[in-house]
Amino acid sequence: MRQKIVAGNWKCNTTLQEGIELAKAVDTIVANEGATDVVVVLGTPFTHIVKVVETVDAARIGVAAQNCAAEAKGAFTGEVSADMVKSTGANYVILGHSERREYYGETSEILNKKVALALKSGLTPIFCCGEALAIRQAETHNEYVKQQLTETIFNLSADDFKKIVIAYEPIWAIGTGVTASSQQAQDMHANIRAAITAKFGAEIAEGTSILYGGSCNAKNAKELFANKDVDGGLIGGASLKAEDFIQIINGF
Ligand code: PGA
Repeated sequence: MRQKIVAGNWKCNTTLQEGIELAKAVDTIVANEGATDVVVVLGTPFTHIVKVVETVDAARIGVAAQNCAAEAKGAFTGEVSADMVKSTGANYVILGHSERREYYGETSEILNKKVALALKSGLTPIFCCGEALAIRQAETHNEYVKQQLTETIFNLSADDFKKIVIAYEPIWAIGTGVTASSQQAQDMHANIRAAITAKFGAEIAEGTSILYGGSCNAKNAKELFANKDVDGGLIGGASLKAEDFIQIINGF
């Protein structure tokens, strides 16, 4: 059975002190109320990772960076390498988020380097894909997302691909309050799983966790997670409140 995963993406929010308080609150509420068959991940700013790793029970909660460098080390001022992230005790890294693609020019070529370095350091990439509104309206979203995967993680060996978590995040749903309908999410997740089957075979496709992201919240998580190809969520805004986040974690 593939893993159910609910990952928070805090983005550029919370001071260190606020982040520690949030991590503490999530840790307590997960310990008391969290479904034990769901992997919970907190995607925090780089500056918070060490403290959040110290704060949470590692047996219940993983920690993710939201990015890593495309180079292993060296003269790259301001960059944080995959090995550095791994050395903090974090075990995941979110890569290919549409905000990084759009605002920081991350191409498939750059993402391939980042994924390779993340895997080499032992981090699990949570690899994001998803189409803009114009592509959805033109009804070419299935091909578009397949192409995003073909240019990136479909270049991996089967053994490496098995270590990847995918997050489908339609750009038109991110931070907008407009969620993909349950059917739209299921259709795209099935499309992604079919593409994985064609590339790597049914066994690997069945074992790959595909998360939905984009205005997923305490109210709609249950309906989204009820779909057979939706294995959890990548949660932005609603991961900043422990009481909302726990309802999403318990949304299966
Ligand atoms: P949102 O963000 O839940 O705030 O829409 C999701 C994401 O970008 O990962």
